[in-house]
Amino acid sequence: MILKGTFLHTPALGELEIRPNAYLVTEGRQVAGLYDTLPPQYENQPVTDWGDALIIPAFTDLHIHAPQIVNRGIGYDKQLLPWLETYTFPAEARFADPVFADRAWKAFLNKLWAVGTMRFSAFATIHKEAAWRLMELTEQSGLRGLIGKVNMDRNAPDDLREDTDASLADTEELICRSREELKHTGFILTPRFVPSTTARLMEGLGGLAEKYDLPVQSHLSENPSEVAWVSQLHPDIPTYTQVYDCFGLLRQDKTIMAHAIYLSEGEKALLKDRGTMLAHCALSNVNLSSGVMPLRQNLAQGLRCCAASDVAGGHTAAMTHTVTATVQTSKLNWLTHPDQSPLSLAEAFYLATRGAGAFFGDVGAFLPGYEFDALVLRPTELDALVERTPFEQLEQFLYDGDDRSIAARYCAGALVPQPFPNSTRG
Ligand code: GUN
Ligand code: FE
Repeated sequence: MILKGTFLHTPALGELEIRPNAYLVTEGRQVAGLYDTLPPQYENQPVTDWGDALIIPAFTDLHIHAPQIVNRGIGYDKQLLPWLETYTFPAEARFADPVFADRAWKAFLNKLWAVGTMRFSAFATIHKEAAWRLMELTEQSGLRGLIGKVNMDRNAPDDLREDTDASLADTEELICRSREELKHTGFILTPRFVPSTTARLMEGLGGLAEKYDLPVQSHLSENPSEVAWVSQLHPDIPTYTQVYDCFGLLRQDKTIMAHAIYLSEGEKALLKDRGTMLAHCALSNVNLSSGVMPLRQNLAQGLRCCAASDVAGGHTAAMTHTVTATVQTSKLNWLTHPDQSPLSLAEAFYLATRGAGAFFGDVGAFLPGYEFDALVLRPTELDALVERTPFEQLEQFLYDGDDRSIAARYCAGALVPQPFPNSTRG
């Protein structure tokens, strides 16, 4: 495939490359090269000419709750723990109904497609059937996802509290089934968070992680009441981070921890050592009054970080909003921490593209050998009134753009049409 257009990407944190009127050549799923003039060996091949469109890497969202797509914007009068009890758990309980689950999953995948998220790591619910259906639909969608059946065997309402052995058996069944039947959709172990998983369940999940060499996702140090609760539940383990580590759940370079706001220097050193990906959830941290992650400091200390939506703590799956909220919250943090400079828009964009894409391998930039995930942006009539540089076009898309500006989406080298055209687009 050969595409022509203006390419913009962030190959590294703090780097921005813009290539006007360039040619991008793909071979299979991957980028073969980005050229200012087309090399002679490609001269007789068809070119998809996107004219003066801006072509950017598609988004990767490493922390999103698929069932909570129905709860966007709901219940931000409360903080984390009462918000879960009041709004989130009742919504997730509805996924015991396969008909409801099917409709919600299709709307979820259509929504991710619409907003330009081509890869994601999602929490499903505790329900084995619903989690499997989300895996199957993701496989059909053309998007690339890691999906986890949620595990919860304590401190959950009756209809969401699992028997420990059943939770482990259901999880192992899904791991095996997805390995046999799916090519592009992976399983990710998903203990909800320490307060809702007993030591025996975490130990069992640590065993499955080792046995099947699986990635893990969970929540860490999001809210002060939650952190205090974890230290009551595990008085013998000094920190929240060490609870996960004790049970083998901080797998080397294979664990995503969302929020990670209230960390000691010792916890940060451990997370850095384990190569844990910290998902910074700017919208959720504000909506649930959780706190401000010291993102600049974490990056300077060499921690792996990405930007993620955390729907429905975050009120939208659109990563454009997550990117701009990442910049905005870093500016507010700067006012009280003058040593922590705010993030630039390009840095925040990196965290939602190459930074997050790294969890899937070489993804999120237009470098040779990288999988080609991209969005083709066309300015709206309003945007086109004033001539803009490519970077200004990116700024306007991130701050005030929406799916009407996305003319085409590519994932792993293929054009992706709307996954479920007969279902709601969201
Ligand atoms: N901690 C445990 N469960 C959840 C959840 O669903 N959302 C958020 N934001 N935090 C959590
Ligand atoms: Fe979350």
